[in-house]
Amino acid sequence: MPNDNVEKRVERVLVSAEAIRQRVGELVELIKADLGESDPVVVALLKGSIVFLADLIRGFDRPLAFDFVGVSSYGDGTSPGEEIAFTKELSVDIAGRHVLVVDDILDTGRTLRRVLGYLEMFGPASVRTCVLLDKRARRDVAIEPDYTGFEIGDEFVVGYGMDFADRYRNLPYIGVLARER
Ligand code: PRP
Repeated sequence: MPNDNVEKRVERVLVSAEAIRQRVGELVELIKADLGESDPVVVALLKGSIVFLADLIRGFDRPLAFDFVGVSSYGDGTSPGEEIAFTKELSVDIAGRHVLVVDDILDTGRTLRRVLGYLEMFGPASVRTCVLLDKRARRDVAIEPDYTGFEIGDEFVVGYGMDFADRYRNLPYIGVLARER
């Protein structure tokens, strides 16, 4: 059972709340410029993306729909497992619509590849991808997000939606998890 003390478990702040706020604003402008006048569907991957999604969509002043796809790859550990299971399927019709997939972190790329393959089955007009964090060093699938908040090293991060054993998602910043001593 993880220690509940945030000061002990979070070694340092990697991205501050203010830096996140600024970057999210920049991402919104880039995405808006590309989506133009379209009425997109934003598809977020549960659960880690929800804080990012909430901040991102409030930057849009045009109509949009959003939905969630549930995927799970990490379990309670700190390494990605081989299995990717769907825990919630799409419930909005994306046929002919412009889709923006939002996720908190791109790691090996297996989850996003699987989700992109799944979404293509529904016949969207286009699919773009937006990740807050890109851990490029760990990629084992050739996949490049269209929009990236920050590139980070191979560190286990928590906060701003991201967890360790389903904790720390509520932190307003992104922190590096301290190793067990
Ligand atoms: C994380 C993250 C991505 C995925 C990335 O989800 O949110 O969806 O792993 O890993 P990959 O690129 O190696 O496939 P996680 O399974 O931890 O679930 P959560 O979002 O519910 O915390």
